[in-house]
Amino acid sequence: MILVDAKLSNETKIKSLKKYHIISYGCQMNFADSEIVASILENIGYDYTDDIEKSSLILLNTCSIREKAEQTIRKKLSSINFLKKKNSSLKIGVLGCMAERLKEKFLHEEKIVDLVVGPDAYRDLPNLLKEIEFGNDAVNVLLSKDETYADINPQRFNSNGISAFVSITRGCDNMCTFCVVPFTRGRERSRDPKSILNEINKLKENGYKEITLLGQNVDSYLWYGGGLKKDFKKANNIQKRTAINFAKLLDLVAKCYPDFRIRFTTSNPQDMDIEVLTTMQTHSNICNHIHLPVQSGSNKILKAMNRQHTREEYLNLISNIKKILPNCGISHDIITGFPNETEKDHIDTLSLMELVRYDFGFMFKYSERPGTLAARKMKDNITEKVKQRRLSEIIDLQFQHSYKNLSNYKNKLTEILIEKESKKSTKFWCGRNEQNIMVVIPKENYLPGDFVEVLVENNTSTTLIGFAKKKIK
Ligand code: SAH
Ligand code: F3S
Repeated sequence: MILVDAKLSNETKIKSLKKYHIISYGCQMNFADSEIVASILENIGYDYTDDIEKSSLILLNTCSIREKAEQTIRKKLSSINFLKKKNSSLKIGVLGCMAERLKEKFLHEEKIVDLVVGPDAYRDLPNLLKEIEFGNDAVNVLLSKDETYADINPQRFNSNGISAFVSITRGCDNMCTFCVVPFTRGRERSRDPKSILNEINKLKENGYKEITLLGQNVDSYLWYGGGLKKDFKKANNIQKRTAINFAKLLDLVAKCYPDFRIRFTTSNPQDMDIEVLTTMQTHSNICNHIHLPVQSGSNKILKAMNRQHTREEYLNLISNIKKILPNCGISHDIITGFPNETEKDHIDTLSLMELVRYDFGFMFKYSERPGTLAARKMKDNITEKVKQRRLSEIIDLQFQHSYKNLSNYKNKLTEILIEKESKKSTKFWCGRNEQNIMVVIPKENYLPGDFVEVLVENNTSTTLIGFAKKKIK
């Protein structure tokens, strides 16, 4: 059913009574995908609402990366059960990785779910929604070799209007033995650079100031006219000669949008090459920050994880980063308690951290994921107690490094892009510097979207506190 919005009736803006709400979990890719889904829904007459109780369609964009993530989503499903009891026409759908992993099993395991859609099947949502209106089950979890949603302009329903994600690749071919992503997001494919530039152009028109190029493994980006990364071998000579790798894409984006701040994530040490570092060095609008997951400092564990680099190669890359980009912020992901990890392996991880001295990181206990090689071939044999102790040691060490690194900013100037109000006080703005460190300043007369030079006065292990000296642009 449709009605004409009273205020806008002379513009004959038609408003839909169908309201939807999306909750996203997990990685930034899921948040970016939710914006694609929003665009597809708005095209067929749905309107976003913040108020879950007013929606006729609730979507959960799910994450499978660790067991805990899946438990959180199941808890959320039980907590919204009462809404379905109140409103029998309410439809509930699950999207993303958990949808892909569990497929139609989801419908049986969680009775309130009406709709299950995998990450490559969002274009089918209009048909699937029709099916559920007729009372049928609707499941589409087909993975694709070429879907990149290149032509869909994301509906930035949850944005601060300053900073946006732009996805450049989908899927992952790496098959790290602990990781469920290759199973839930399929093979790796890159997006047409023209469509990437188009999307950034629209962001520029809408006043955005910063983009983050997104992919499971951005350094492996390769455009040669479409198709899977693994099929590049079969490309013809012209395709090979004109192919665009990640460094070239970065260069292109940085040149076309000199006023934009450019970030990217995630880098995989095996694919990050010197060309990317020199491109970062050439362009001052590419932020000096590299998120470079290491997972473990032990060669034995890296091998068992099927990471395609050694500890020495990783440290060599770090030393190149520090040489070429002396001011570069570096962060990590580490997993502790992988099968057969000994105390010595754990100490190798701590010693690698001592050598790198990361600014921040994301640290996890190993969580066995069904279907992965590690789950099939290796016993999850590190006790919860040992995992917890090792994790605490890693977190404590990271805390010390973060605190020390951040205190080096004291009494120095750093440039930030103001993004939003600080969570702790309405009198302060917060924004990140190019090293991706959060900085808090008094609001004064500055506004979100301003680039300001900040004098840092104080710090915690995660935040710099200071005041703006002047607006740069
Ligand atoms: N390349 C990806 C990595 C995705 S997963 C990216 O874009 O970030 C993010 C992090 O989750 C990984 O780097 C790893 O540290 C962690 N992780 C993945 N699988 C895990 C598992 N089974 N148990 C614990 N942590 C895991
Ligand atoms: Fe997962 Fe390794 Fe890819 S961590 S996303 S399989 S690079």
